[in-house]
Amino acid sequence: MLATMGALGLAPTAGAASREPVFRAPRSGDFTLKGRGAAKVVVVGGGIAGLASAYELGKAGYDCTILEARDRTGGRNFTVRGGDTTLDLYGNRQTARFSEGQYMNAGPGRIPQWMITMDYCRELGVPIEVFTNSNASAYIYNEKAGMTAPVRYRTAKADTYGYVSELLAKATDLGALDGDLTADDRERLLEFLKDFGDIGSELKYTGSEHRGFTTDPAAAGTPGVELGEVPSASEVFASGVGRYFSFEFGYDQAMLMFQPVGGMDRIPAALTKAIGGRRIRTGAVVQEITDTAHGVTVRYTQDGRTRTIDADYCIAALPPHILAKTAHNLGSAVQTALEAVKPSSAGKIGLEYRNRWWESDHRIYGGITETDMDLSHIWYPSYGFHAKRGLIVGYYNTGANADAYALLSPAERERRAVAQGVKIHGEKYRTELASSFSHHWRQIPHLEGAWHTMSGGPDAPAYAPLNKAAGHVYFAGDYLSYADAWQHGAFSSARKAVTTLHERVLA
Ligand code: ALA
Repeated sequence: MLATMGALGLAPTAGAASREPVFRAPRSGDFTLKGRGAAKVVVVGGGIAGLASAYELGKAGYDCTILEARDRTGGRNFTVRGGDTTLDLYGNRQTARFSEGQYMNAGPGRIPQWMITMDYCRELGVPIEVFTNSNASAYIYNEKAGMTAPVRYRTAKADTYGYVSELLAKATDLGALDGDLTADDRERLLEFLKDFGDIGSELKYTGSEHRGFTTDPAAAGTPGVELGEVPSASEVFASGVGRYFSFEFGYDQAMLMFQPVGGMDRIPAALTKAIGGRRIRTGAVVQEITDTAHGVTVRYTQDGRTRTIDADYCIAALPPHILAKTAHNLGSAVQTALEAVKPSSAGKIGLEYRNRWWESDHRIYGGITETDMDLSHIWYPSYGFHAKRGLIVGYYNTGANADAYALLSPAERERRAVAQGVKIHGEKYRTELASSFSHHWRQIPHLEGAWHTMSGGPDAPAYAPLNKAAGHVYFAGDYLSYADAWQHGAFSSARKAVTTLHERVLA
């Protein structure tokens, strides 16, 4: 029957199932044979892991309540729009002045095709569109490496692949690879290199139309003018442009990638709606989690009052470093494991422009410019092409760079990011700017981190106490997955917690 349903598109096919562990959501029918009812579950934390837990358990009729400290669900899945206000732990209060339709995904911004986040978008009816994660027309600018002007990705790749191909061809011709390759192999390798590096039958790189044009090919009489001034191999390697090329091979970063239409927070919004508003208490700051003989009691504050909630089980879906600061009686092994997970820093600034000069002047439609300056990455928007206004992510940086920007006032962050962006894009980067909004996860109350560092990964013995129930408490979050810093990690961890909890209830 499943195979037939699969053929009709009503169930995952065998091919799909082999990609990932099969998840079977709890169903109310699971209880009819066993004669047990669904239990009461308190979910601590209304980020993706907490929402997904309540959503999946809700399918079987579990009585779930989510306690969320912030005034909104989604956790790090936060889309900033005009009117949104934040107050960070350094006391910076910002209100976004973005115009209608403009937004910045302050947290997750891209979804690979293979991740189960895509399945949730399908199931929840969240429309998606392509997110441009790599663009041949975007720039690379390594100031520290001595570059004086940005270079397009296509040009950097043409030169790097050209010279690497030439050198490898030369080594092959000199017999340096005779021990590794047969005569046929060498012939095929040379054929590949000729094409890949555009090095011709001379096996020499002298430039290529892959680099781009200063005058684009057009009507008869205008064959186009290829970009001249081919740098030497030594200059190309010294520029360090090649260090960015493998990014797009990454299993989690390769195109195509996707984003929800209208902002990443369409995902938590859809989950919140499916779960039901009455099951979610926002502004509820958890103070203590107590495992008891028959269940769990969670004490929290809301509107200045202390309240408690009793349940049969708890899914603790707070960031681990926040959980580590929360009183509990789950034992020292749990506490030690929580403390071993270290939060990481990341920040972004959204720059709204009065016009989309990157499209009209630079011919860049989405994608990412890479730099060795402390702004790190610049993202061009993958939505609203040709609209009047547009929003660039003017920095997306991590670690020490993010910490340095976080210490600045929002106005200083903007100044620093714009001064660097001008070096790549020219004065319009400053003159066309309408407003900005910056966000640093390490400094956001109740979250205090962008993602995590866990030595040895989630299955290391140090984290074993978090990968099973502590009494009636289960743990969930992207940190307990091999996809930390991805919603996929939060979803898959939630599925694991839900599955083990449900099995226990049915046992
Ligand atoms: N998953 C995060 C990103 O793609 C870290 O930027």
